[in-house]
Amino acid sequence: MTTESPGHRNTAYRNFEVAPISGALGAEVQGVDLSQKLADETVEDLRAALLDHLVIFFREQSLTPQQQIDFSRQFGELEEHDFVKGTEEHPEIIRILKEADEKGMNFGGVWHSDVTHQKSPALGSVLYAVEVPPFGGDTLFANQYVAYETLSSGMREMLDGLTAIHTAEGPFGPHGRSLTNWRNMDVETSEKALEQTEHPVVRTHPETGRKGLFINGTFTVRFKNMTRRESMPLLRFLLKHASREAFTCRFRWARGSVAFWDNRSVMHYALNDYTGHRREMLRVTISGDRPY
Ligand code: SIN
Repeated sequence: MTTESPGHRNTAYRNFEVAPISGALGAEVQGVDLSQKLADETVEDLRAALLDHLVIFFREQSLTPQQQIDFSRQFGELEEHDFVKGTEEHPEIIRILKEADEKGMNFGGVWHSDVTHQKSPALGSVLYAVEVPPFGGDTLFANQYVAYETLSSGMREMLDGLTAIHTAEGPFGPHGRSLTNWRNMDVETSEKALEQTEHPVVRTHPETGRKGLFINGTFTVRFKNMTRRESMPLLRFLLKHASREAFTCRFRWARGSVAFWDNRSVMHYALNDYTGHRREMLRVTISGDRPY
């Protein structure tokens, strides 16, 4: 089943079915076993499905860490996280873990796209659910094309010329919030997180050519040539607008679910509503290119 809407494009896929889960973005892919070597045409069509629906989901998968890596590698080079150490055997895989007795903020519990403190932020991430709580722990995704397209022409024109400053200082700097949170993750705070990177506020997607908002609740700290105090009202407005309910989908995880999001056109938000229960996910990140 396919549905034409501002958030989805229709393509005929050769080896699987696709079912959108909301009008804004997000679709479940049925009929692909990610643990197996995939035919070239299946990989090609999965890439098309990612561009069409921005985030694609798979159910009832059973993946070893190596199989998760092998699947993800078909879409680009994998990278290690700058501040979260990967697992012993697979440095490209980070474990996102919150134990039942942890009370603090969770990892990813702010609207963001991944690693935009880097000059060339990720193309996308592949997240695999190892253990999920009996309720809660859903992940929300928001379509940043539609977020941009629904702004007034005056605002779009202004944003088209604006550059944002991104840094990983908030979570990963010497006084970062990872010091008090995420005690079961292997995080290394560092002076390196103080480095600043510039990105356009409106990004042109390198594959679809479509423009989208490219701001970040974790890493964007201000606009270029503006103070933080001057920047914050506009940044707050944009983050609120970019995550309006109508632009989102919400994914309910089960053990063995996989989400693969396009980090260039989507923000995501991990809900922290499962205190008292354990949640364990494995994430692989695919390298991207310099935003323009
Ligand atoms: C992340 O931000 O990559 C984490 C998402 C999640 O745990 O749902």
